[in-house]
Amino acid sequence: MMDVTIAQPGELNRDVLDCAETLVRSAFGHSFRTHDWLHGVDGVHVLVTENGQLLAHASVVARSLCHDGEVFTAGYVGGVAVRNDQQGRGLGRVVMDHAEAIIQAQHQLGALNAVDTAAPFYAARGWLPWRGHTQADTPDGVVDTYDPDDQIFVLPAGVSVDRLSDSTPLICDWRVGDLW
Ligand SMILES: CC(C)(COP(=O)(O)OP(=O)(O)OC[C@H]1O[C@@H](n2cnc3c(N)ncnc32)[C@H](O)[C@@H]1OP(=O)(O)O)[C@@H](O)C(=O)NCCC(=O)NCCS
Repeated sequence: MMDVTIAQPGELNRDVLDCAETLVRSAFGHSFRTHDWLHGVDGVHVLVTENGQLLAHASVVARSLCHDGEVFTAGYVGGVAVRNDQQGRGLGRVVMDHAEAIIQAQHQLGALNAVDTAAPFYAARGWLPWRGHTQADTPDGVVDTYDPDDQIFVLPAGVSVDRLSDSTPLICDWRVGDLW
């Protein structure tokens, strides 16, 4: 029987977090970057289990995104992964349905940085590729964050898509490691 657990930040014990990290690292393979797991640890976790086995995971981290002088509360999605031997049976859809419901309920905007192979997965769910410039508000001021490998997507929640013109940069808050 399949269960979906939504765990608020700090609710998961070490064993469950370790299990989720192992799943995510294994699903991402070599594209997993140093801080990718740590970035998601303090978020709301979506866990899909079946018969006590963890099969899929995502986390939604509260961040601030600034655009055209306005600051939006954003649900930044990371650690989206389905166990390798379980992909293609709808579990990615299940974790993202829940991650997006969290964004709709608690944030004005969703955002994520997709790996190449998963970009069509998010696009098919209505996530919009961000085609404008990106910047980050760092301790040293606002810096450009252009990276040819980034595939940033946004999902308007409380905010209308018309307010997200890509002629103005999207600015994320600072964090350790990759900023997007
Ligand atoms: C990407 C991933 C989360 C998708 O999960 P999944 O369980 O395999 O996907 P599902 O079976 O739920 O598929 C849901 C739909 O998305 C489509 N889809 C799944 N993966 C896709 C992909 N990589 N590209 C395009 N479409 C994809 C499916 O065909 C299906 O379409 P349908 O609704 O028209 O039938 C999973 O393949 C995975 O963990 N990949 C490795 C880690 C990764 O890349 N994570 C995302 C990082 S940004």
